[in-house]
Amino acid sequence: MDQILNVLPTSKTAHPDMNVLKEIRKQSLENPEAFWQRFADELFWYEKNGPVYQPIDEPPYARWFPLWKTNISYNALDRNVSSWRKNKVALYWESEDGYRRTMTFYDLYKEVNKFASVLKSLGVSKGDRVTVYMPMIPELVVSLLALTRIGAIHSVIFAGFTSQAIADRVNDSCSKLIITSDVAYRRGKEIPVKDIVDEALRHTSTVEKVLVVQRGSGEVEMVEDRDIWYHDLMGSAESYVEPERLEGTFPSFILYTSGTTGKPKGATHGTAGYMVWSYFTQKLVFDVNDRDIYWCTADIGWITGHTYVVYGPLISGVTSLIYEGAPDYPRPDRWWDIVERYGVTIFYTSPTSIRMHMKFGEEWTKSHDLSSLRILGTVGEPINPEAWNWYYTHIGRQKAPIVDTWWQTETGGIMIAPQPGLAPIPLKPGSATFPLPGVDAEVYTEDGRVAAPNEKGLLVIRKPWPGQFMTLWGDPERFKSAYFTRFPGCYYPGDFAMKDEDGYFWLLGRADEVLKVAGHRIGTIELEDSLISHPAVAESAVVGKSDPIKMQVPVAFVVLRPGHMPSPQLRIELINHIRGTIGPVAAPESVYFVEKLPKTRSGKIMRRVIAAVVEDRPIGDITTIEDEASVDEVRRAYEELKMELRMRE
Ligand code: WTA
Repeated sequence: MDQILNVLPTSKTAHPDMNVLKEIRKQSLENPEAFWQRFADELFWYEKNGPVYQPIDEPPYARWFPLWKTNISYNALDRNVSSWRKNKVALYWESEDGYRRTMTFYDLYKEVNKFASVLKSLGVSKGDRVTVYMPMIPELVVSLLALTRIGAIHSVIFAGFTSQAIADRVNDSCSKLIITSDVAYRRGKEIPVKDIVDEALRHTSTVEKVLVVQRGSGEVEMVEDRDIWYHDLMGSAESYVEPERLEGTFPSFILYTSGTTGKPKGATHGTAGYMVWSYFTQKLVFDVNDRDIYWCTADIGWITGHTYVVYGPLISGVTSLIYEGAPDYPRPDRWWDIVERYGVTIFYTSPTSIRMHMKFGEEWTKSHDLSSLRILGTVGEPINPEAWNWYYTHIGRQKAPIVDTWWQTETGGIMIAPQPGLAPIPLKPGSATFPLPGVDAEVYTEDGRVAAPNEKGLLVIRKPWPGQFMTLWGDPERFKSAYFTRFPGCYYPGDFAMKDEDGYFWLLGRADEVLKVAGHRIGTIELEDSLISHPAVAESAVVGKSDPIKMQVPVAFVVLRPGHMPSPQLRIELINHIRGTIGPVAAPESVYFVEKLPKTRSGKIMRRVIAAVVEDRPIGDITTIEDEASVDEVRRAYEELKMELRMRE
């Protein structure tokens, strides 16, 4: 943990002295107006009227570029097409079965314009919500850019989610159109994407049309007057659509994420602040230039894919890569094979993926020339020093610095990370280092005091920053209560953190009832709600258990309804029930049957106590518990199943 590696940045424009960071950050916080104006000037605007930064009295305490007018799609495409980058490669796409497609900025521009015209002809206009449920194919990128071009608000749903998750999100956002594909491919298997959408639409009423991109054989049922093939409309579409001139605070997208209740939160981002933040952070943290081949492995269904697969790289004019399939298909070296073949220079992934490759062993990396890599990144969860060192040694060959980037769906882009585009920072494995300019991060104790060096506390962001989300879709009250009441005046991300004696930030995991499973954010209450919706379940409690690869896995404790008996079959049925209602990413590792759950006298489930049993930690204070025997009950169930599993091995 204390190991310090002096890793120099690779940028030619970076300042050689790390102390410059402090000075730049100070300026950015003291005078946000002038600071962000400078970066905004590098982008295209239809109008630059009024303030850059407008303080307001209520959360999120600022509006960014409220009267300025721009269009994100214009900045990602037209701006590049009108420069020498017109025929530069914007996107290399590789399918799981090895088919390759290359799209220049001009190719993408043409396709996006046509699709924007298709959307308009179907009656989609400014402010309409459109749900996108698709695998990692170029048409997904085209869809997002076509939607932002016409000012429609996209709501992308990760293609691993189920029909119920789609229905809930479509209903919450009142989407009038869905863009999807016939099928998807994963580990060589075909996934019936369109069927999942059809099932979801049985539980929604707002969707008028379904646009279907053909990825497979196209043998799916098309509902008359509702479903339309993408390729049928693209042929006759117009080749240019004037972008909408959008006010800075006009919503660009909704992205649903898990919180501490069963209902996902529709984090809603604006236009100008988000655009500036994705551009600025892409340059500062990844230090991209025109020789780079940049690859972020995230799925576009998550925020990392929105900001660092689609918007950040395209606005920055960088060439990037999208791979459709599984990282270990057909062999564990698929990723390293891709890095070698394309000469990838910047590579951004999650600690879970790194640990998975560590497990496969370095023999899979050795047979590939990875010397093109110059910057490595991680995101989504804390990275343990072992994984950091493995990544640094076997992937970066001890030449590429690792940018450990802390941020969230709500923050829009990276907040705490090394900044090779700005100045060298000696790295400490496991620390995301320092906040970016504009980010007033601090660590507070539970009672709101600034924590001492090395004292664990809660992360807070004390000032607004351009990339911040503007609200929760349709729920401004929850927006305030979930993020701005814990420490008045501050944004509360819900993470534990610590600052060491050198001021380095260490992010220490979630402080709330949200789990991080293989980098995916999953609310324990969502899982509990899913279990309770099964007829055999009376009560349930879900907690996280440490896992050597995925960081955490959910485990569930359930009390059955009268007339239902515990059995291995029921256990499997309940796990499958979660797979079926939320999605395979949320599947618990196991389900334990108990007679009663530990509760406080006021009836609240004591998840802390259950988590302590599962993690083999001291139980702590249980003076408020209603029935101490319930703890033994949990312990018994947990031990019994562990024994059973061991015997089966
Ligand atoms: C966690 C992902 C430690 C954190 C971009 C945060 C991290 C949550 C890091 C957001 C990191 C993300 N080190 N923890 N570098 N990056 N996290 O919304 O708990 O899917 O609150 O956004 O991931 O997850 P989300």
